Amino acid sequence: MRFYLIGAGVINRTHAEAIYKLEDQSQVEIKVADPNPAALSSFAEQFPQAVTFTDAKEMLSEEPQADDIVIVGTPPFTHFPLSKMALESGRHTLCEKPLVMNREEAEALLEVAKANNRMLGCCSVRFLQVPKTEQVKDILNSGELGDVYKISFVFRGQRGRPGVEWQPQSRWFLDKSKAAGGIVMDWGPYDFSILNDLLQPESIEVAAAWVAKPETEADPTDVVYDIEGAVGAMLKFQQANGKSVWVQYERASCTHGEPYFTVEIEGTRGAVKWSPYFETDQVLVKSDKNGEVVTKEETIAYPGSIGYMDHPVHFFAQKVKGQQSPAIVNEQAIFNFLCLQSIYDSALGQKPVVLKK
Ligand SMILES: NC(=O)c1ccc[n+]([C@@H]2O[C@H](COP(=O)([O-])OP(=O)(O)OC[C@H]3O[C@@H](n4cnc5c(N)ncnc54)[C@H](O)[C@@H]3O)[C@@H](O)[C@H]2O)c1
Repeated sequence: MRFYLIGAGVINRTHAEAIYKLEDQSQVEIKVADPNPAALSSFAEQFPQAVTFTDAKEMLSEEPQADDIVIVGTPPFTHFPLSKMALESGRHTLCEKPLVMNREEAEALLEVAKANNRMLGCCSVRFLQVPKTEQVKDILNSGELGDVYKISFVFRGQRGRPGVEWQPQSRWFLDKSKAAGGIVMDWGPYDFSILNDLLQPESIEVAAAWVAKPETEADPTDVVYDIEGAVGAMLKFQQANGKSVWVQYERASCTHGEPYFTVEIEGTRGAVKWSPYFETDQVLVKSDKNGEVVTKEETIAYPGSIGYMDHPVHFFAQKVKGQQSPAIVNEQAIFNFLCLQSIYDSALGQKPVVLKK
């Protein structure tokens, strides 16, 4: 297979590693384009087989093959024009999260994918099909929790801002005109991929939402820093079976409050608590026996050499090959992005917002 990487920064190196795990190195070709000579040369040092370009358009100018894949791994403000160019070059396109900057770009990009009969995927699938979360999905679907009425999805880190404490060299993360937003656009894509995978909603109502920008003495003052660091929302997921589940959602990359990293699903007969991310592999199931709380504890680690970071490329390549795959493409990718946009719309407009499939 041939892979065309746009961007030679941090994330496309992870994607290059994933590509080399996919098939024998002699079976895959990697080309990479980045206008930054330093990024390009250090990429080439790490992956000497890769062919480098300073211009993505030039890289994509050769005749496409049916299973070519472009991976857009650049800052969000470039995702729309670069993904559009990639799709118009006749290639399936896997774009980093957040997919685009806003609703208009999301809808326009779907049209481009359809017009060119190519698939548009988003890397927000990174934490799907993780064994511990699959176990939770089985528990949820088995009915053993009774009627599920609420999920708390709360991830609050005290100091984990990209562009400040995490990857401080990439200051663009702090500038809304480049990053599309703060924690909502950074981690929300993963959170809503997981929630939508678990609950399969027909529609989502953001009943209320807020965003905030907690301040610290380390806040950069020499760059644009106008993104939120904390968000909360109350959402109602309406499912195809007529049932609905409330989701209490909270995310922070910066808070002066207590850190907290957990998802808990509560039903009338039981509850399950776990982290779909890195914090723990424990899955805790609580139920009742003779009026007493009974806790069942399991540890479900990820086996093998394939990890979360390999998922976007592996799932998308499976989809392109016509295999069974959890890749999120086209309409579902747009719906998942619009969940994020709806949180902003509700928080900034101080009103409920309904998003239908
Ligand atoms: N860093 C992470 O851990 C991480 C994890 C998951 C997702 N992501 C996502 O990946 C994307 C990129 O993040 P990153 O951390 O790799 O950023 P980065 O700053 O490390 O790299 C971005 C690269 O894109 C290049 N670039 C910019 N415009 C370009 C263009 N027109 N053509 C080609 N190259 C261009 C820049 O020169 C730079 O080398 C973002 O959407 C981010 O949200 C990052």
